[in-house]
Amino acid sequence: MMPSPPEVEIVDFSKRFGAVQALDAVSVRFTAGRMHALLGENGAGKSTLVKCLMGYYQADAGHILVDRQRRAIAHPYDAHALGLGMVYQHFTLVPQMSVAENFVLGRERLPAVLDWAAEHAALREFMARMPFRLELRRLVATLAAGEKQKLEILKQLYLGRQFLVLDEPTSVLTPGEADEVLGEMRRLADAGELTVILITHKLREVMEFAQDVTILRGGKVVARIDVADASEQRLAAMMFGQSHNTAKPELASRAGLSANYLEIEHLHALGDRGTAAVAGASLAVRSGEIVGIAGVSGNGQKELVEVLAGQREAESGNLRVAGRTFNGTRRELEQYGVSLLTEEPLANAAVRPMSVMENLSLRQFDQPPLARGRFVLDRRAMRPFAEDLIRRYGIRTASLFARLDTLSGGNIQRTVLARELSRDVRLLIMHNPCVGLDAAAVAEIRGQIMRARERGAAILLISEDLDEILDLSDRVLVMAAGRISHETDRASADRYEIGRHMAQGRLSA
Ligand SMILES: Nc1ncnc2c1ncn2[C@@H]1O[C@H](COP(=O)(O)OP(=O)(O)OP(=O)(O)O)[C@@H](O)[C@H]1O
Ligand SMILES: [Mg+2]
Repeated sequence: MMPSPPEVEIVDFSKRFGAVQALDAVSVRFTAGRMHALLGENGAGKSTLVKCLMGYYQADAGHILVDRQRRAIAHPYDAHALGLGMVYQHFTLVPQMSVAENFVLGRERLPAVLDWAAEHAALREFMARMPFRLELRRLVATLAAGEKQKLEILKQLYLGRQFLVLDEPTSVLTPGEADEVLGEMRRLADAGELTVILITHKLREVMEFAQDVTILRGGKVVARIDVADASEQRLAAMMFGQSHNTAKPELASRAGLSANYLEIEHLHALGDRGTAAVAGASLAVRSGEIVGIAGVSGNGQKELVEVLAGQREAESGNLRVAGRTFNGTRRELEQYGVSLLTEEPLANAAVRPMSVMENLSLRQFDQPPLARGRFVLDRRAMRPFAEDLIRRYGIRTASLFARLDTLSGGNIQRTVLARELSRDVRLLIMHNPCVGLDAAAVAEIRGQIMRARERGAAILLISEDLDEILDLSDRVLVMAAGRISHETDRASADRYEIGRHMAQGRLSA
């Protein structure tokens, strides 16, 4: 028999980081066995609130009641001992270990000698009960982002946590996967086995799966309502106050398109497991055109982007930019005006310990001259440039000089996008660019992508968000099992038909 999930109440939490009052006397009660949503724009204080609850940060003031008793949570271990678990906005898995090892090593207390046969048997039995599965022997490094997210959630359930905080769990999942994961969380809540705190920017998910909503703005609770009494519009109004723009960009028709700027022919590349990941993909993108690639994660998108970025070698096939062979070297990226935005910006496209200003100004952040300090940073030139980007992209930071990793998840993403979109790009390649951004930021970023297109850039948009693909693309391709299996232009794009081709890809589990 499972014990019932704990009821958790946060009373008067305040937390300040330097000049930023991240939380200001926040009180919330999470009724046991329900699904609660925490909403708020980028930087509102959502992650800070749950990190204080989990003992990852210490609140400056306030206390926590678990089942109506006051509890001190000074460290994540204390939270775990009370049955509280969390899936963080950034991954916490060990990439060089298998799925099974990540499950087992997630435990706080490990026996001196592990009985792997018994562990595997227990894991198989656990997996069989779960609605989504992962191959236990796979190396975590080879999992696509959506698969890692599922593993993070499964790990918490395996550890027996009955109060689970999910910080933007679906930002890397497809709509179908997100529904599957959230549906399962809600089912467990309804069965009285779990209390769920869901942080998300997707109002549809809140309306569909959550029961209670708390809205934060500027570190304060601005509303607590029952989802039954809410609407998406009302929630958005409460999140942003009055002034926000979520209008969809207008697509002007593109008569007389120019020549192909990017050409990919019969590309083959292996995945981390040595099996075919990109299996004969061919496509072309013209200047002034947005080509969207839809698909379920794990169908070769990650590897395709890595080949384009020069981070993975192709087995065969041709890559051309501006009619010339392209290998994704630094020099070529510079020469052809190529900007690449891969998944997980904090891991792949930013330098954590550097300031916001430096991250905005860097273009070749990982090149040795800079890393060795030989690069001379012209701070006087950087400053107005960085200030302008911060204003235009609404980046919320304590100052220009704050370390990038002190920004909220959405603000880190904005910083990387601001830098890349402010360049004079001729080819822009983006993988899930709007993950984790609030509606106002999404509108801004989409506007910037459209402006890059108007300036004549060739744009390849790879996204697991089908709505994003359909809103922005002149042409829509579907990538399934490593190749382009379907193509349609915007005018005749049919969501159902595209979904059908997406579903014929490899299942990521
Ligand atoms: N470790 C830290 N040091 C300094 N400032 C921080 C730190 N963590 C958070 N902040 C600041 O606190 C504020 C709230 O950040 P938080 O991460 O809680 O936002 P959020 O609501 O989760 O936003 P997002 O939707 O972008 O993830 C932000 O202004 C952020 O820059
Ligand atoms: Mg956050």
